[in-house]
Formats: sequence, structure tokens, C-alpha cells
Amino acid sequence: MRTSNFLFKTLTPSRLHNFLLCLSLLFIAYLLLSSNPQPSSSHQAPIVHHPRASLSSSSSSSSPTSRRHLLFAIGSSSGSFAARLPYLRLWHSPNSTRAFAFLDGLPSSSDDDSDGLLPPTVISQDTSAFPYSFKSGFRSAIRLARVAKEIVDFAEADVRWFVFGDDDTVFFVDNLVKVLSKYDHTRWYYIGSNSESYFQNSKNSFEMAFGGGGFAISSSLAAALAKVLDSCLFRYSHLYGSDSRIFSCVAELGVGMTHEPGFHQVDMRGNLFGLLTAHPLSPMVSLHHLDKVDPIFPNMNRSESMEHLFKAVKVDPLRILQQCVCYDRSNSLTVSVSWGYAVQVFEGNELLPDLLSLQRTFTPWRRGMNTDLSRYMYTLRDYPRDVCKRPVTFFLESILSDNLGVRTTYSRQNPDNCARGKSVKNLKKITVFSRKLELDTEQMKAPRRQCCDILPIINGSMVIHIRECGPTELIAMHP
Ligand SMILES: *[C@@H]1O[C@H](CO)[C@@H](O)[C@H](O)[C@H]1NC(C)=O
Ligand SMILES: *[C@@H]1O[C@H](CO)[C@@H](O)[C@H](O)[C@H]1NC(C)=O
Ligand SMILES: *[C@@H]1O[C@H](CO)[C@@H](O)[C@H](O)[C@H]1NC(C)=O
Repeated sequence: MRTSNFLFKTLTPSRLHNFLLCLSLLFIAYLLLSSNPQPSSSHQAPIVHHPRASLSSSSSSSSPTSRRHLLFAIGSSSGSFAARLPYLRLWHSPNSTRAFAFLDGLPSSSDDDSDGLLPPTVISQDTSAFPYSFKSGFRSAIRLARVAKEIVDFAEADVRWFVFGDDDTVFFVDNLVKVLSKYDHTRWYYIGSNSESYFQNSKNSFEMAFGGGGFAISSSLAAALAKVLDSCLFRYSHLYGSDSRIFSCVAELGVGMTHEPGFHQVDMRGNLFGLLTAHPLSPMVSLHHLDKVDPIFPNMNRSESMEHLFKAVKVDPLRILQQCVCYDRSNSLTVSVSWGYAVQVFEGNELLPDLLSLQRTFTPWRRGMNTDLSRYMYTLRDYPRDVCKRPVTFFLESILSDNLGVRTTYSRQNPDNCARGKSVKNLKKITVFSRKLELDTEQMKAPRRQCCDILPIINGSMVIHIRECGPTELIAMHP
């Protein structure tokens, strides 16, 4: 208002004439441009008329994929459901997660949903008419495979992705949403990961999405699969599991698996430390078989361990377990941070590619003498038996976040009596500062590891800052 008053106060008649002339020229230019718009001058996205898209009013299919667009189908049973509730409660949130648990009957007592956090349960349809001929396998494989048809038949609104998992699969839902956003749900996609075990893949297929790690099927492919699945169930009666039935039927539809390494079937036992501290750059999407492995944190039981990890997951899901490596040149230390879980301090110079391989802390899924059983789909390195030859390890203690950033602290696992160098001997605590990791779809498609800096050790405490790497920065002690 003030500026226009000023303008008119200073206008003389001749100036007014010029001003009006300018205005009319601008108006003519506007008419010319708007009556004959050039494609390059239009900033609006083209409007595509699609018969079905125009019918759906509320959500356009081009809006960003969110939690509400995922529908989870959890394969469970009356016998196992109650024991798996701690895992389900961890990731299922009734306000934002849509899920059904498929059981073979009413769950046995003792399960209590007083907190209302559990997914609704559904009793699967009768599958006794389908044949099952795998020796010493379980008929329930048919029921669990058929979940892929039953859940589509529910005809829930606005489902872009059907996600399948077991009742002992822990999903990292926000990361799954991010990963699936990279793909167009109107096309046919079957997304998951194979097993860590070479043997399991060779028995099934290297191209099969293993069901315990979980997999996602785009709504368009799921609709087609639901129509033909029963016919496949007759043809593949000789297979062992539900996932191999889905894989076979999807293969007959002409679709292969899209591999996303964040899904973890966890066909391994014992200590998962080596797997969890060298996670690939893709976001963590799932963990399975948590009852079959050791608790992931020392001095905690299995469910406490996962709850502890989820404190960090809730604050910065995309960063969870993402590994970054930095060097303290003055003390000749190499530090590997697996965010939200553990920090390892190596004395001396460890090259980055070596730290990306998995320390063999775990044991094979199948016990036996066959060397095939102990082959994995990863590059492995030795985890020394001698504690003193291992890196000094710190586990997540606490997490704090405010609008300035996130602070995680890690405390030393056990005081050891090893002959360590002066700089690490008295190191008790590591504090890591970071900012919440926010990646858009394009950044998700071309991920880059972040860098970190180590501040001088003071009073047994090391401080690390995680940040984006410079344009040509190298992660090395002497770049
Ligand atoms: C779900 O939403 C309700 C109402 O908005 C809220 O009171 C409740 O705390 C939420 N529950 C969870 C688990 O977020
Ligand atoms: C794990 O520990 C928590 C807390 O101490 C306890 O409530 C829970 O029952 C324990 N779970 C198992 C399976 O022992
Ligand atoms: C050094 O650390 C100890 C605990 O580890 C603490 O009590 C003491 O106050 C710290 N000293 C300084 C100067 O920060």
C-alpha cells in the first residue's frame, strides 16, 4: 500500500502517460503469450487423463507414497502369534500402519491387545483342497502363500504396495516407504531380497524374494497375481515354502525380483554384529529370525534389545545402521560408526573397502559339515577369537534430539585387559553428532556415504561429527 501511494504521488501527467503506455504494452504481451503458450514456457506438469485416475477423487497416484499406501499381510499362526507380539508392537502403529495378521485359528490365550497396538487378525480360508507334496515340509505353506490373494480380495482403498512378512519379521516402516517410493506402483514390481545363505538360495532361487525378510508387490501386479494364484498353487505343490510358491507364480506372470538389500531374511545364527555393522548404503528395511539369534545388545534380552535399537530408529530412521568411517591421524585410529547401534575403534589404518566387508561373528543357519552351508552372499573377513585383536567396541547407550541435531552416545562394551595403545586404553565413551537424514527420491536412487570428523579425545571421551562429504573428499587416513 505504501509503495503505491508513493508512486501515484510522484506521477506527473507525462509520467502518467508513459506509465499507462508501459502497462498497455505489458498487457498486449500477456495476451499474445497466453493465447499461444509455448511448451517451454509452461511450468505446469502435463495433465494426463486416465479413465480410472479421474474417478478417484481423494488421492492422486502422483502424490508421494506414504505409510497409508502400504498394506501389510503378516503370515502367522494360532501357535506363534502370542510369542511374536513384542516384535509386532515394535513396528506396527494402529494410527499409521495398515496391516492384517493371517492365522489358522483363534490365537491361544495370553495375548492381550489392551493397548490397541496390534494389527487385526484374520482367519485364513480353508486350503485343504490344494495338494502339498514336499516331503517333511509344512502344509501351512499353501495357506500362507494364499494370503497374497486373500488380502487383495479385501479391496482396501488406496493400496499402492502389498507387503508380506512373517510374524517374526520386524519392519522399518518409514524406510520401506522411502524405498518403495523409488518405484512406480502402477507397474509390475516384486521387490525383496534373497537369503544371506548361499545354500538357501541355491536350494530355492537366487532370484527369489525370501518371505521372512519380507517382500513388496505393487498393487497392479498383486491384482493380477490374485487372479491366477490358485492355479499356481496346484502346479507348485512340490515346493517347500509359501515364498517359493509366490516366486514361481510371479515368474509365470513374467516378472523377476527387484533386489533391495535392506530386506534381511537372516538365515544365520549367533551374533549378528558383523551383519549389522556393515550395512549397505540402502536403508534398513527388515530383520527376521530375531528369536534365532543372540540379543543384538550386550546385557539385554531379545525384545529389550530391539526396543533399544528402535529408540534410534524413531529419531532418524534412514540413518539407522548406516556406516561411516573416519580417521584420527594423530593417534593413528580408524573409527567405524554404525549409527544407532555400535562404534568400533581400530588401532592403525584400516582401509575403507575392508571395513565394508562383514566380520564373521555369526554361524550358519543349517548346522553341518558341508562347506556350502557356511558360504554367504557377502564378502567376509575374520573376527579374531582373541578379544585383544578385535576392535574396541562401543554400543548405543542413549539418544537425544532437538532442533539443532541428534546426539547419540556409545559406551565401551567391557573393560578388557588387553595391551591397547594409550589413546584407546582409557576411552570409555563416544558421542556422535549428526543431523536427521532426509533424502528425496532422486537422492535415494544415487546414495552416497557420509563422512565424519573426530575431535581430540578428552578425558576418556571421543566426539564425532557426521556430515556430508565434500565434492571429491576421500574416506581415507592419508587421502
Ligand atoms: C493414535 O492417535 C490418537 C488420536 O489422535 C492418539 O491419542 C494416540 O496417542 C495415537 N497412538 C499412537 C500409538 O500413536
Ligand atoms: C526382557 O526383559 C524385560 C525387562 O527386564 C522383561 O520385562 C521381559 O519379560 C524380558 N523378556 C524375556 C523374553 O525374557
Ligand atoms: C572426566 O570424566 C569423569 C567421568 O568419567 C568425570 O567425573 C569428570 O568430571 C570428567 N572431567 C572433566 C574435566 O570433564
